[in-house]
Amino acid sequence: MSDSHRRPVPLNKAYRLLNHGPTVLVSAAHDGQRNIMAAAWAMPLDFEPPKVAVVLDKSTWTRQLLEASGTFVLNVPCVNQADIVQTVGNTSGLDITQTQGQDKFQAYGLQTFAGEQVEAPLLDGCVAWLECRLLPEPRNHEQYDLFLAEVIAAHADERVFSDGRWHFEGHDGLRTLHHVAGGHFLKIGDAVDGKTLAV
Ligand SMILES: Cc1cc2nc3c(=O)[nH]c(=O)nc-3n(C[C@H](O)[C@H](O)[C@H](O)COP(=O)(O)O)c2cc1C
Repeated sequence: MSDSHRRPVPLNKAYRLLNHGPTVLVSAAHDGQRNIMAAAWAMPLDFEPPKVAVVLDKSTWTRQLLEASGTFVLNVPCVNQADIVQTVGNTSGLDITQTQGQDKFQAYGLQTFAGEQVEAPLLDGCVAWLECRLLPEPRNHEQYDLFLAEVIAAHADERVFSDGRWHFEGHDGLRTLHHVAGGHFLKIGDAVDGKTLAV
């Protein structure tokens, strides 16, 4: 995505970037090393200051980098990136680095840009990005693989998110991905407005 479509999202609206349940890509960096993995189990946790929750298995290298740096990014990928989601969600960044001497970004030709607040790279082509600062909850990490964080900066592609709402009509390739299981995804559909029923 060119920079021209990227816009800041006010922090009190950042929860809306995750409220519809997209699969995300978690990126992290520490001490000159960087990595990215898929995570279906991510969700908003609070409005303001905005907080998020994400489950990160102990086997992942992303988790090690994130714990070491105390920051990370939730990148919200789209239909155009389904192969990338599957790829970075089924390969080990540590293995690639050790065997090929390059990270997942280099190995798979993934372009990134710098965040405002964190060291972790933000992935080009996504439709939203949440820069996060880890909350120190070591028991949750160890016991439940559960990581809580405060969102400290947020951005979105204005073609599909503006004025605090998603609008995917006319941009099928930019619809968000929702993982069911085993590499099977659904893409987000169209808007339906609910009204409160009169009694
Ligand atoms: C669609 C998808 C969703 C995933 N969701 C999660 C998740 O929520 N939490 C998790 O720990 N791993 C999840 N994974 C698995 C990690 O992405 C996978 O273990 C990855 O290879 C870790 O990479 P790393 O070791 O380079 O960090 C998911 C994988 C895919 C393909």
